[in-house]
Amino acid sequence: MITIEDLKEKFINIFNKKPEKIFFAPGRINFIGEHIDYNGGKVLPFAIDKGIYAVVTFKERKENTIIHLYSEIDNNLYTVDLDKNRDSIQQSSLWIRYPVGVMDALRKNQNFEMWIYYYSNLPAGSGLSSSAAIEVVTGYLLKSYVFEETSIDTIDLALLCQKVENEFVGVQCGIMDQFVVANGKENHLILLDTHTLNYEYLYFFYPEIQIVVINSNVPRSLASSKYNERRKECQLALQTLQTITKQSFLNLVEVPENLVLELKEENLKKRALHVIRENQRVKEMVQLLKHNPKDSISKIGHLLYDSHQSLKELYEVSCQELDIIIEISQKFDGVIGARMTGAGFGGCALALLKKEFYETYTNQLLELYTKKTHLELQIFTTNISDGVKEWK
Ligand code: GLA
Repeated sequence: MITIEDLKEKFINIFNKKPEKIFFAPGRINFIGEHIDYNGGKVLPFAIDKGIYAVVTFKERKENTIIHLYSEIDNNLYTVDLDKNRDSIQQSSLWIRYPVGVMDALRKNQNFEMWIYYYSNLPAGSGLSSSAAIEVVTGYLLKSYVFEETSIDTIDLALLCQKVENEFVGVQCGIMDQFVVANGKENHLILLDTHTLNYEYLYFFYPEIQIVVINSNVPRSLASSKYNERRKECQLALQTLQTITKQSFLNLVEVPENLVLELKEENLKKRALHVIRENQRVKEMVQLLKHNPKDSISKIGHLLYDSHQSLKELYEVSCQELDIIIEISQKFDGVIGARMTGAGFGGCALALLKKEFYETYTNQLLELYTKKTHLELQIFTTNISDGVKEWK
């Protein structure tokens, strides 16, 4: 595990400067409630104990804002003048689009110079929200240096970062990732109503249960174009349903399931059914977690499997490799439940496992997965952790 001393030393080697502060923003896993945060649904994500560290030094300037950025993503040192280079960076496909977009949106009339070294221990391209983590950690460190006195709280920060991702980067994501990265809480899931942004924390810690993260290692090349396509399909389904039924629904999750059957277009019907049922599953999950979760453990597991099935067949965002992981898991006694998590098209699955089975489960999964897919799996356990913070 990387230490504060290691991070500081790397910073000194890169910039030949003394680091002042270190911040950390976690990655996230969504427990259940997939692809409904842009349909007004309820989601249940949590922050994990891996994420992105930002080591920083800051200096005020009278004019021009200059930022020096480095990460092992490409081992390149970027020096950016925010006024001059903003547009060309926005049009590029470089990782620095994320921090530059956030700085640009947040800085107002302030000028400064900053040196930032980003270190990530999230597996690259695994769908654990490294983009939300880099956005939120950048916004948070800027808030800490420049806007300490202002009223930007972690909810405003999440909204600002989502706006940057939608408008500056061009991915039409919902609010879930930025919200949980900014507001996560140790040993708690966040129940977030994405329509109202009301939220509550649900305690989730059972010493006998392990949360296992399984990275399929499937490249997520289609993820952002297919993601935007699903969003459009949901908008179209909602508009069509409003026209057919002459009722005005604010969000797709509100439409009664029997009305959806009136949709002629098969794809739209499937997308809408997933959205409505997934929202229902979240509500059921919350009831189970609030009342005697230990007695309902198998029902909790079923909801996870049902969610996966629906993402596979109705929403069509899974892939063969993720399905294989779930299939193997489902046959294994110690697994309570499992599903793909995040946007899909590769990326990670999550499994709830009885702790004593960890060795046998992972050995079996590794072996069978590689036999069937010729890909290597990466498996790790995670604790549910806090959201963004200064690392002291
Ligand atoms: C991505 C998006 C989120 C959410 C999930 C799917 O992670 O960033 O807003 O839509 O996919 O649930």
